[in-house]
Amino acid sequence: MKRIAILISGGGSNMVALARDMVGDHPARPVLVISNTPDAGGLTKAQDLGIDTDVVNHREFADRTSFETALTERLEQAAPDIICHAGFMRILTPAYVDHWTGRLLNIHPSLLPKYPGLNTHARALDAGDTKAGCTVHEVTAELDAGPILGQASVPIHPDDTPKELAARVLKVEHKLYPAVLRRFALGDRSTLHLPVRDETIINARISD
Ligand code: GRF
Repeated sequence: MKRIAILISGGGSNMVALARDMVGDHPARPVLVISNTPDAGGLTKAQDLGIDTDVVNHREFADRTSFETALTERLEQAAPDIICHAGFMRILTPAYVDHWTGRLLNIHPSLLPKYPGLNTHARALDAGDTKAGCTVHEVTAELDAGPILGQASVPIHPDDTPKELAARVLKVEHKLYPAVLRRFALGDRSTLHLPVRDETIINARISD
């Protein structure tokens, strides 16, 4: 049974989707959720799911390296086989990536290599794109640029706002990340192109 640690910074909806999928014959189980912010809403969601949580507050460290040293020490206590970054909003140094290399996943709300970094949905809208989506990739030293393990796309509607598009993409994030983690936990590193046929997602117009 693979041991999964999940790093969050905010609401943790991807963490919830991953945790809820890791049941029954799933080859992995969540063992720890860590946030870099003490007020992350995802912490109580993880506790409600019975998952151990902790906070390694980046504001309590003088620099990135000391923060990551503390983060790695806390992670090592849980002996994770895989670490899922799920809405974790810290840029990581090559030292952290080297330490955990091959065991780090991240979900990014764009169809990489398009729109690495922030404000992905506003950028897709400004560019007049007709589709958007999300990518699960292995974390490497270069931001949002590691080997792609999975992608899912949704249509952009003509009058979409960034908020509406973000909500539509988030719904497929919650399907893509669990599907990719299942495969990755079994050693499958091939790229999954997840078809989205759910009309309620495709036609979603408001962020419910
Ligand atoms: C998601 O869009 C994710 O792709 C990005 O952070 C957003 C919030 O994720 N990295 P969550 O609700 O905290 O999982």
